[in-house]
Order: sequence, then structure tokens, then C-alpha cells
Amino acid sequence: MRDGPCLIERYAARLPVTDKTPRLTLGEGGTPLVRSPRLESETGIPEVWLKVEGMNPTGSFKDRGMVVAVAKALEEGASSVICASTGNTAASAAAYAARAGLRCAVILPAGNVALGKLAQAIVFGARVVAIEGGFDAALAIARRLAAEGDSVLVNSLNPYRIEGQKTAAFEVCEDLGDAPEALFIPVGNAGNITAYWRGFEEAAGSGLAKGRPRMFGYQAEGAAPIVRGERVAEPRTVATAIRIGDPASWQGALEARDRSGGAIEAVSDDEILDAYSFLARCEGVFCEPASAASVAGLRQRARRGALGGIRRAVCVLTGSGLKDPDTARSLAPEVTTVRAELDDVRAALAARA
Ligand code: F0G
Repeated sequence: MRDGPCLIERYAARLPVTDKTPRLTLGEGGTPLVRSPRLESETGIPEVWLKVEGMNPTGSFKDRGMVVAVAKALEEGASSVICASTGNTAASAAAYAARAGLRCAVILPAGNVALGKLAQAIVFGARVVAIEGGFDAALAIARRLAAEGDSVLVNSLNPYRIEGQKTAAFEVCEDLGDAPEALFIPVGNAGNITAYWRGFEEAAGSGLAKGRPRMFGYQAEGAAPIVRGERVAEPRTVATAIRIGDPASWQGALEARDRSGGAIEAVSDDEILDAYSFLARCEGVFCEPASAASVAGLRQRARRGALGGIRRAVCVLTGSGLKDPDTARSLAPEVTTVRAELDDVRAALAARA
């Protein structure tokens, strides 16, 4: 974590906050930008950096936007917040609501939320309801409930979410002394790519950066509505965080792509899991499957010879690998258990070699 004031205070001049906005914080933002030598040698790009957003307080980038959305809800006198989520938004909303003394309701797609995220929402005291349907149906219901009642919707349709999330782009520019030439990022509901692009535009406008990056967004092949140009009724992917068929910020993603000269593309589940294992084994960085879509996209472009002379790239790793222990376990053999004897342990280690 960066020294100094909380995210709201640090970026107050660039956020829609006033002196009256509560300085809510759990220590969000200030996440590490870690260089990736293995990706540099594999892709031939001289500089590749990983923005490790799993280091946020609840383990994902959602905390940047949630702290602003919940602080504004408090400022406006709300008593409860509501969201639909594939898991991370729920964990973040539940934590900041607990901190702020607000009630929190979350609507989740049953059976498609990683275990760690569900545990977080429960332990932070949210009212959790799982529906027999996907994220898109959950979001439609959350919107209706927010419109009918007095709960504030804290999905990225809430404009304060995007405002808070754009601070990640500021940090990248501060750390590199400029914007990178390319940004690789997973795309689900498309709020984050929208937020980064806004952040980079503002950074260039205020002199924090000289240029703007080309924005490369990655959807999972089985959940790629923007790539296909049509809604996907039954999205499927191992990367449950981005299992979304009708992104709310679709238009924002297209603008980021078109204004930056970038692309929105698909990566297969195999490519995602390959990048996930590669990051863990070769760089010591454990992110969740959806996060690895950014690196899968970079590697896919490298294989196609489609990097176009990029000299400095940043891949956003949106969430921590600890969120999804089931996927981690599913990729490795069972751990061997032996008697507590030196010879047995030695034999077991030799057998694994
Ligand atoms: N990576 C992770 C780990 C996510 O949790 C999400 C979205 C994304 C990427 C995609 O970001 O939606 O802004 O394009 N998770 C949401 C949730 C949908 O409910 O937690 P996006």
C-alpha cells in the first residue's frame, strides 16, 4: 500500500467528492506494478508490467470504485446498498457497507461464484440471495429493486464506481512516468475498461501522461458478446467473474477500443488457464482465472505477430487467485499423504520429481 492519505483523499481533485464526502477507507489503491521478465522474453516486448489489483483490501479492483460509491451513498443519507455480482463486486460492497454501517444485499448467479468471494460476502454480513440464472438476470433484478426501494445500486452503472476505478490508470501513469503504449485488460460487464480509458484520457489532459495507451480488452470465448456483436444468452467460461452475456458498459468498451486504436478479442478457457498457471509458476503471481484473460490476450497477440512494435505494455490482473481455490485445486493432482516417517516422505518426494 502506498503511504499517505486514502484513495478518496489522494485523488479528491479528480473525483466527484466534496469536503462533506466521508473519507471512507480500507486501504484501497496503491497496488503494485510488477515487472514480468518472462512475458518480456516470450513476447519480445521490452517492458511488460502487471498491475496487481488482487492486493486491494478485498482482493480485487472493485474496491477502488466501491469506496467512492459507498462514501457517496453515505453522504446522500442512504441506509442500504444492493448489487448483482459474479462475486467480487459482492465481496467489495459487503466490506465497505460493513465499514460504513450500511445494510448490503447481493444477488448472485447460483453455482457460478468462486468460493472465496461467497465466503467474503457472507462473513461481511451481506444478505445474500442466489438466483437460478446468470449475472445478466441478477443485474436486471437488482436494478428493479434499487428503483423500487431505498437501496443504492452499487454496480458499475453507479457512476461513482467508474470514477473510483479510473484511479488505477492514474497510478500506472505515476509509476511509469507516462501512460504505457498498450493496456491489456479482462472485460466482463465492461465497467473497468471504460474506467481505465477515462483515467488515461484525464491523465493525458492534465499532463500526468504524454500519450494514451491502445486498449486491448479480453472476453472469454464462451462469453464474448462484444466480440461477436450480439448478446450471449447462455455465457459459459471457467472464468466465472466474466461470465456475462450482456455487458452494461458495452458502449464504453467500444469507445475505449475505437478512440485508442485498440481491440476487443476473445481468449479460450484453455488460453486463460494456461496464462493463469504461467503467471503463478513463472512469475510467482497468483491471480484469479478471469484476471489471466489479459495475459492470455497478450500472449495470443504475440503468437499471431500482432503486437505492432509495442515497447511498453501493462496487463491488469484484476483479482487475487485466493478467491477461487477450487480452480487452483482442479489443475493439480491430489496432495500425497504418507506416514510421518523420514523414509516415507523421501520416497514421496522422489516419486513426484
Ligand atoms: N476481473 C474480475 C476478477 C472481475 O471480478 C470482473 C468483474 C472483471 C474482471 C471484469 O470487469 O465487469 O468491469 O468488465 N466482475 C463483476 C462482479 C462483474 O460482479 O464482481 P468488468
